[in-house]
Amino acid sequence: MARKVLVPWPIPKAGVDALSRAGVDVLVIHGPRGEPLAEGQLIETVKGADLLLPRGGQRIRREVMTAGPRLRGIANYGVGYDNIDTKSATELGIPVTNTPGVLTDTTADLAWALLMATARMIPQAHSYTVSGQWQQDGWKRFMGLDIGPGGSRTRKVLGIVGFGRIGQAVMKRSRGFGMRVTAYDPYKRDAIENSRGVEYRELDELLKESDFVTLHCPLTEETRHLIGKRELHLMKSTAILINTSRGPVVDETALVAALEQGRIAGAGLDVYEDEPRLSSGLSELPNVVLLPHIGSATVDTREQMALLAAKNGLAMLRGRRPPNVVNPEVYESPAYNRRSKDRGASD
Ligand code: DGY
Repeated sequence: MARKVLVPWPIPKAGVDALSRAGVDVLVIHGPRGEPLAEGQLIETVKGADLLLPRGGQRIRREVMTAGPRLRGIANYGVGYDNIDTKSATELGIPVTNTPGVLTDTTADLAWALLMATARMIPQAHSYTVSGQWQQDGWKRFMGLDIGPGGSRTRKVLGIVGFGRIGQAVMKRSRGFGMRVTAYDPYKRDAIENSRGVEYRELDELLKESDFVTLHCPLTEETRHLIGKRELHLMKSTAILINTSRGPVVDETALVAALEQGRIAGAGLDVYEDEPRLSSGLSELPNVVLLPHIGSATVDTREQMALLAAKNGLAMLRGRRPPNVVNPEVYESPAYNRRSKDRGASD
């Protein structure tokens, strides 16, 4: 009997093709406007599935996993996997994978695009120009902040929080701007200290010194609200905060207040605490640039993510260890062996 893969959102075609070529049945279902399947429907549909391939951000709770007794794995489409209850997956013997590497450059590019757009008020200036409001001295409304040394010849300080693949790619891109670069990551201190042109800082020091703070840490219980009122108040009033990691890393209510009060100069956000909902007051602020979680959204990268998710998924369906398992301890668990045996018996 052919294995069944449930894809509860509109995945790029390359992913479906790769799975179908391997002889598995692919069921792609989602809402009429491309919305991912709601949890209730997911629970109904996962019953007969051997593999679940959700989108990053699509919450997969224990209830969904227990509704799928045949599941051999969950292949998340996205490098962040905070949407999946991995603890329950491990307890239930279900390997979980993500899609690291293929989206590193694309996300680092977007962090820089946001940083530049926020510092120079590009979206605001664009709206002003196309709306026909341009006056001779229109530039006075768009007095931005330098990223490079600029007229003052002072080197600007970039503070990178989280020095994984994406944080490092952001660091590499800073070289052309002649910035001083600092980074904070308690798990990557050696990598920071061994990287040319980056200085290690504890978080508070980094926040106090930086002209631009850019967040690249995963969302965990440790990083939830890592940047709250206290941290925002440590930042310079001329500093800009960029977040392309996960919304809940920042206390969005505290951020809105800090921006309203001029505690910091601006923020460029691609991610939010409760996507796609924005905190009250955020979209009315003049000093923000807000994007709809498009960090990895280029045609090529999204295709590569789909192919990598499919590759991980096929490995799990074949009972092999996938390249990007995030809960490797699952292979030690009796639940995994039980699940594999039960699955074998029901074939
Ligand atoms: C990721 O890969 O984690 C991106 O944020 C898309 O969810």
